[in-house]
Amino acid sequence: MCIYSESISVLTTYEIANRIKLKMKKKRGVSNSKGIDSASYLPTGVRLWPLKRYLEMYRSSLDDPEGFWSEEAQKLDWYKTWERVLDWEPPYARWFVGGRLNASFLCVDRHVKMWRRSKVAVYWEGETGETRVLSYSTLFRDVNRFASVLKKLGVGKGDRVAIYLPMIPELPTSMLACARIGAVHTVIFSGFSAQAIADRVNDIQAKVVVTADGGYRRGKIIPLKQIADEAVKLCPSVEKVIVVKRTGEAVPWTEGRDIWLSSMLDDAELFVTPEPLESTHPLYILYTSGTTGKPKGIVHSTGGYLVFNHSAYQWVFNIKEESVFWCTADVGWVTGHSSIVYAPLSHGAAIILYEGAPDYPTIGRWWDIIEKYGVTIFYTSPTAIRMFMRSGEEWLQKHDLSSLELLGSVGEPINPEAWQWFYKYIGKERCPIVDTWWQTETGGIMISPTPGIEPIPLKPGSATLPLPGVDATVVDADGKELPPGKTGLLIINKPWPGMLVNIYGDPERYHEAYWSRFPGSYYTGDFAMRDEDGYFWVLGRADEVLKVAGHRIGTAELEDAAISHPAITEVAVTSKPDEIKGEAIVLFVTLKKGSSPSATLRKEIIQHLRQVIGPIATPDEIYFVESMPKTRSGKIMRRVLKAVASGQSPGDLTTLEDEASVDEVKRAYASLKRVSKEAEADVEVRNPRS
Ligand code: PRX
Repeated sequence: MCIYSESISVLTTYEIANRIKLKMKKKRGVSNSKGIDSASYLPTGVRLWPLKRYLEMYRSSLDDPEGFWSEEAQKLDWYKTWERVLDWEPPYARWFVGGRLNASFLCVDRHVKMWRRSKVAVYWEGETGETRVLSYSTLFRDVNRFASVLKKLGVGKGDRVAIYLPMIPELPTSMLACARIGAVHTVIFSGFSAQAIADRVNDIQAKVVVTADGGYRRGKIIPLKQIADEAVKLCPSVEKVIVVKRTGEAVPWTEGRDIWLSSMLDDAELFVTPEPLESTHPLYILYTSGTTGKPKGIVHSTGGYLVFNHSAYQWVFNIKEESVFWCTADVGWVTGHSSIVYAPLSHGAAIILYEGAPDYPTIGRWWDIIEKYGVTIFYTSPTAIRMFMRSGEEWLQKHDLSSLELLGSVGEPINPEAWQWFYKYIGKERCPIVDTWWQTETGGIMISPTPGIEPIPLKPGSATLPLPGVDATVVDADGKELPPGKTGLLIINKPWPGMLVNIYGDPERYHEAYWSRFPGSYYTGDFAMRDEDGYFWVLGRADEVLKVAGHRIGTAELEDAAISHPAITEVAVTSKPDEIKGEAIVLFVTLKKGSSPSATLRKEIIQHLRQVIGPIATPDEIYFVESMPKTRSGKIMRRVLKAVASGQSPGDLTTLEDEASVDEVKRAYASLKRVSKEAEADVEVRNPRS
């Protein structure tokens, strides 16, 4: 059944809004501006049609955050109730202080204790067509046995475990096994290179690495064990490597260090008591890109993270135990942590775990999975939607998508065309779309429609309203709240339970990156605008972080990787708009004496980046330039680069570069434009796909 009481046909943004506003006015006989007393929660000039339940909840969450979150927290099972809801010593928050709980108990044991023992927890589909269905009872057995293996290998509370696995059931199982014994997991996306793994493993000093003999992607085997081996050579902290058998291919082996999971499971205990962990105990560390070359190890706590996500998934997705929830992200990203593992399992729902590529072996693969398992909630990225849009609609006719009740979008702004297509062709004009804005750092969804609280009019391209407890504002560079229609920076004024609690081993960076620019408020790094109806429109990153196919990658990280190529003296990375991926990576490169531009060198640089970071670092364009455009103090004129890469006119730039005269900027632009024109003729090595 559709959650919305009325289906919203595909109309323009304002038509949708007006239609519903009008209807509400007639029904309740109140004017929008006078309906609910929302004035103190909205900036001047912003109105909100009478959303009763949402506004009541939102108001109470900001008036009395501790009372509000205390009530939400009671929806989870605790070994010991908290003594204080929040200790807030900016920028450090400790949620549910004194409380004790366990994520593995919450996501597994408590369902086994109820009637959900035989209910499906995981529908797994391998790329090659095999399937595995895990009931909560099977998941319970697998998590316990995995936890027992970890314990036998000497892993205990607080130890760090790195998980480098494909999308197979052992991925959520190993995460939950870590959580059971209080070990802290770091999942490393299986598309990352050996160097990227080594950097993360060394940063957290992981004791154990969990990997597989391989994984399937587009019919090819990715030799994960081999890549993990290369990484582990550089990681003295690693004592054991647990290997899951997936492909059956022969793998390199280090006696004494490497262990097949299967060989340990036979003797594993069937029950491992879950550790009653302090609410503030770290649940996981997940690396994400920032504005420096080194990715940040974002630390999430147990209690706050679980309370926030458990509530958010009810509000946003109206998730229930009978839901079949498919989030198409990889578990290696935060979306996978919250939307595949912790939130849906905390509700006793069934999750879909699909190993392979969206369109492999045919464009019908995803739609076949929806039909086969009766997916009710489908949560994906704008990049994926745009990719499918390109293939037309005929192939969709072959699939029955009538199980779908709700659609979700995440990871990047969704353009209205993609929204409309998703709404019309996938949701058949029956299913609301929740456009959810959040970040690795926020741990859970922050801005989104909340049909689980109250249906609200949707506007294609807007993530709509903040969730209860999320005090979001748009401010100018000085931190002054902006009126409707003005673009500024998105900040969050109050701590919320799902927030990151630190950057692993780098508290100064934690303070500097998020809390120093607007003291007391969390700086998101995003540009946003709030419209006169109070809706948020998140427009993209305000810092040097790119979003390529929804994946976050820092320009500095790419530059650090590129500069290690022997032919390069200087490199600057920017992006250009891309119809499918949102943004595409563009490199400007100056070469060392003796090296000259060539198609072969381009290929080599691309290969080099893929090797140092992984396929997500593949540039679409490389421009070889004589020199970088710089200001008098030697700063690269990044906006000039961006304008050239995206084909913008220089007129827009003249006021944008600090410390450079209009003429200097124009000269730099003209000279780069020449280079880019020459490069346009040379298309040979553009955009090799992973
Ligand atoms: O720029 C915003 C964009 O993704 C960034 C966070 O990326 P990451 O930490 O990788 O997490 C992605 C998935 C939770 C944000 O700073 N972003 C995410 N969701 C949206 C979005 N931009 C616009 N609309 C969204 N719904």
